[in-house]
Amino acid sequence: MRNEVVASAPAKVNLSLGVGQVRRDGYHPLATVYQAIGLYDEVTVRPAGSPEHRLSVAGEGVDVSAVPTGATNLALKATTLLAARHGVDEGVEMVIRKRIPVAGGLAGGSTDAAAALVACDALWETRTPRDEMHAIAAKLGSDVPFCLDGGTAIGSGRGEVVTPAMARGHYWWVIATSAQGQSTAEVYREFDRMHGDRQVPEPTIPDELMSALRGGDVEKLGLALTNDLQAAALRLRPELERLLTVGLENSAHGALVAGSGPTCLFLAEGEAHAAQIDWALRQDAEVERDTILFAQAPVPGARVIG
Ligand code: C5P
Repeated sequence: MRNEVVASAPAKVNLSLGVGQVRRDGYHPLATVYQAIGLYDEVTVRPAGSPEHRLSVAGEGVDVSAVPTGATNLALKATTLLAARHGVDEGVEMVIRKRIPVAGGLAGGSTDAAAALVACDALWETRTPRDEMHAIAAKLGSDVPFCLDGGTAIGSGRGEVVTPAMARGHYWWVIATSAQGQSTAEVYREFDRMHGDRQVPEPTIPDELMSALRGGDVEKLGLALTNDLQAAALRLRPELERLLTVGLENSAHGALVAGSGPTCLFLAEGEAHAAQIDWALRQDAEVERDTILFAQAPVPGARVIG
């Protein structure tokens, strides 16, 4: 057994997020295009020397006070499921270094769980087949299977069914984080409230989006970005409206709420363009935001880095 394994855990964005009528199980059918971005948490595992798992979480520029460190933590759940699958009775000591905003709509918790699976599989040398890793990931959360794969991919079902997308190009994202996180379940509930008794149509992926990705066309991609949860997220956080407008008025190719929010995303041409958008957002005194980060995309999913 190795002494220590470190895995990288990239954040995700949804280039389009189509949401349908709530299902009987409480989840919503999705038609989404995921993209993994170069903003990373890091998950380290070592043998604990006892049967219990232990977790500590350190924030690097993000507030981690809301992250549970007990059995409800998704990365610890991932460890427990994988251990049960292989009959491993050795506990792990896990350290998560967080740079992805907590409850920000960037799948921070999901990607930590994916990285925990990858890291423990390497630590225990259990060589779990890919399809079994995906099955465990799907039990943990709708976004977790994508976080294993990374790149650019289409998500269906409740988001857990993932197929790689034909995509070219290299993209720059400007990411405006919010000091206050937002519950995903709460945003979906707001989505349901907004639709009332009206039947929500089947979600689809816009043709223009797929065509922009095939061509690696950043301007076309910017125009095609969509998020069916955006209106619900903005009802809960109306102050984000101005942030999106300022980005768009200052040359971003596209602007949208990240997943269920409250993080906001702006698509840029390259580093200089990203810096220009960043500058504009910082100039506006009324814009509501915490920090502004840059990330390049797409990047691979959770993987062992040390
Ligand atoms: O799958 P995950 O545990 O990440 O989902 C968190 C919450 O988001 C769910 O409990 C559910 O309320 C909502 N959700 C949903 N439809 C989806 C994915 C998530 O309603 N497709």
